[in-house]
Amino acid sequence: MSDKKAQLTVDGKTIDLPVLSGNTGPDVIDVRSLVAQGYFTYDPGFMSTASCESAITYIDGENGVLLHRGYPIEQLAEKSDFLELCFLLLNGELPNAEEKTKFENDVTMHTMVNEAMVRLFRGFHHDAHPMAMMCGAVGALSAFYHDSLDITDPEHREISALRLIAKIPTIAAMCYKHHIGQPFMYPNNKLSFAENFLHMMFGTPCDEPNVNPVLARAMDKIFLLHADHEQNASTSTVRLAGSSGANPFACIASGITALWGPAHGGANEAVLTMLAEIGSVENIDTFVAKAKDKNDPFRLMGFGHRVYKNFDPRAKVMKVACDEVLAELGLENDPLLAIAKRLEQIALEDEYFIQRKLYPNVDFYSGIIMKAIGIPTDMFTVIFATGRTVGWIAHWAEMISGSYKIGRPRQLYTGYTPRDYQPVEER
Ligand code: CMC
Repeated sequence: MSDKKAQLTVDGKTIDLPVLSGNTGPDVIDVRSLVAQGYFTYDPGFMSTASCESAITYIDGENGVLLHRGYPIEQLAEKSDFLELCFLLLNGELPNAEEKTKFENDVTMHTMVNEAMVRLFRGFHHDAHPMAMMCGAVGALSAFYHDSLDITDPEHREISALRLIAKIPTIAAMCYKHHIGQPFMYPNNKLSFAENFLHMMFGTPCDEPNVNPVLARAMDKIFLLHADHEQNASTSTVRLAGSSGANPFACIASGITALWGPAHGGANEAVLTMLAEIGSVENIDTFVAKAKDKNDPFRLMGFGHRVYKNFDPRAKVMKVACDEVLAELGLENDPLLAIAKRLEQIALEDEYFIQRKLYPNVDFYSGIIMKAIGIPTDMFTVIFATGRTVGWIAHWAEMISGSYKIGRPRQLYTGYTPRDYQPVEER
């Protein structure tokens, strides 16, 4: 705690509030004592609220900084890989060589799902949205592991974390295969995490695994750049669900549902839908005008961020990966991508977007990469969820292994005050 104190004066009565300092970032006014004084704080959207203490990820939105356990995202994206980042997020430190090999083996050994999951998938209609299947399938995982769901046992928490990281890509690929009516692919233990995912998505039992290394590298980067992002809507959902003592599979399923919305993880899908709707470069001005019109609900998908009021540092890395993938696949002249590039340029130069600090976000570029790789748009959020799973588990585990209370916000009540029930014939 710092020596600073905040004072709040209400109706002539002054309340002293402690000010807490983190290792970096804004100080936090500790309002926990307010309830005893008869007050709640009011902060819809939690714009001014720190909901927990955490040592996992730090974001400085004004300066476009993102650190995982202190390491800048740019360094991790250049020098590390997704599984190493998973270890870092879960354990707080980078692994040594032996720990890295063991962790990779442990994840690889858990990639298969119980064969009964195949029957679960068969119950979904073929045109079910992949996110709908994913919510169900991930929640259903808890049905298979009754023996290791004691959240107070660190070993149970660890095995659940490994299972989730390992099995979610398998489930993600199953969502796609079910959708297109192809056989589910078993994971291949000789492949890396990203290669395996692309193999399960695009391979068939008739062929040997054949994954393009440039696309596997880009896929690994997509997972890595989505791995964690502090207390966003889905992570906060996971923490809230976890605070009731729910099992980790159920908590991660709740995170997946929160991610689905177009203002959060659904944005990468919405970007491609929007580009298709724009249709050609000539129509861009009309859509930009719609985005700026206060009376039109249309927004440019893939632009703006609640926290970053500067270029999203993940977007910078993703943009480079995007150019590599487009060059590798010879897609530099794709018409949809031409719209994306022109839109990016116009928005970066337009006063409306400059004033409001609305930059292209990570979803803008990840959507373009995934489209180029051949991933259908309705799978985009599933892939975001695959990468984000480790962040959700790291936050869940951090909370469960520390001291926490069930999350229970209060409200500013604006409904009726007490009134008497009227029998139906008198209404
Ligand atoms: N297009 C046009 N105008 C926008 C946009 C946009 N994409 N985003 C914000 N604005 C305007 C908004 O109308 C408001 O204008 P004014 O001050 O004149 O009323 C101003 O910018 C501030 O917007 P806000 O809604 O108060 O900002 P927010 O922090 O509540 O919203 C956001 C952040 C990400 C929900 C929003 O920018 C948005 O809807 N973006 C499009 C969806 C998107 O790309 N989401 C992915 C976010 S990154 C992935 C993730 O972390 O989940």
